[in-house]
Amino acid sequence: MDHMKTAKEMLQTVPRSRIGFFPTPLHRLNNISNDLGVNLYIKRDDMTGVNLFGGNKVRKLEFLIGYAKEHGYDTVFTFGATQSNHAMETASMCNAQGLKSILYLVDLTEQKEERPKANLLLDMILGAEVHIIPANGREEAEADLEAEELCRKQVEQMEKEGHKCFVIPEGGANYIGSTGFINGYAEMLEQMEQLNEKPDYIFHATGTGGTLAGLAAGRALLESDASIYSVTVSPKELSHLEKVANIANESLRYIGSDKTVLPSDMHYELSYYGEGYEKPTKEATEAIQYLARKEGIIVDPVYTGKAFSGMLDCIRSGKIPQGSTVVFWHTGGATGIFAEPEIVGEIWK
Ligand SMILES: Cc1ncc(COP(=O)(O)O)c(C=O)c1O
Repeated sequence: MDHMKTAKEMLQTVPRSRIGFFPTPLHRLNNISNDLGVNLYIKRDDMTGVNLFGGNKVRKLEFLIGYAKEHGYDTVFTFGATQSNHAMETASMCNAQGLKSILYLVDLTEQKEERPKANLLLDMILGAEVHIIPANGREEAEADLEAEELCRKQVEQMEKEGHKCFVIPEGGANYIGSTGFINGYAEMLEQMEQLNEKPDYIFHATGTGGTLAGLAAGRALLESDASIYSVTVSPKELSHLEKVANIANESLRYIGSDKTVLPSDMHYELSYYGEGYEKPTKEATEAIQYLARKEGIIVDPVYTGKAFSGMLDCIRSGKIPQGSTVVFWHTGGATGIFAEPEIVGEIWK
């Protein structure tokens, strides 16, 4: 059976707003491959468009916004931290599709900046309606609950006024968004095939798990035997993989597949986030400089730098055998380089 053909046909049965630039490039990192003794490729989802900054969210949002348009929604709500890439990309893509975007953002940095920086600055330029919820020393989860409650009230009010409101969870992490990464997996596999290559390992940064869910679903759908290594950028329990598997299976059902993903189909790398989300690590700083100085490619301190440092450690420690074909999935996040000093760390030194 031609799995690729079937997958493509299934993906065409669900709504999608084609806003990003696909396929993104995939190319070999020759200098680092020579250095480390593996055959290393990079999937450039930092180049998905739609604005200057790209990233993995564009894949998810094509399907989420496609769904919203198909069902007649006029307003999109979503959540994140003040430096959320997802929220910023949501604002961009809503603008492109004539939808209003409303962002509920938790401020974890407790900084009093003179003017907004990085993604928050972009949210303002893009003209999104932004509501900031200061964490005020609370746990992030507690502030998130407040954001959800405020959003719920605004949705209620706007619906009374006749609007149709579509609420996207943090990171776009649900079965609709993850479908974007089933498509991404097929795209990557096809590109590797054209190069007469087959991936043994895929590394990427994981937060909410939506990207991982889509990759795992794509892997199952295409019967690929690559191992997916997901480097967590914040503390996570292994049990989170059950939630990820559920999203993956819902995405598969959404496109009409009866394939199944199990938590054991994924590998969580839990030891590379340092002190936590948005807290820089020495290893990620070194990894950012190594990739920049060897290949001229930039990764960010919050997500992709930590994932790259995790991958380097797995290769150098022999966990990934020499000679393996590895794909590093660059999920974007470029604006993190320009965020508050507490988030950026000392990447210039
Ligand atoms: C640049 C970047 N990489 C990786 C991730 C992780 O993706 P996910 O939330 O789907 O796990 C995110 C978003 O959270 C991101 O912005």
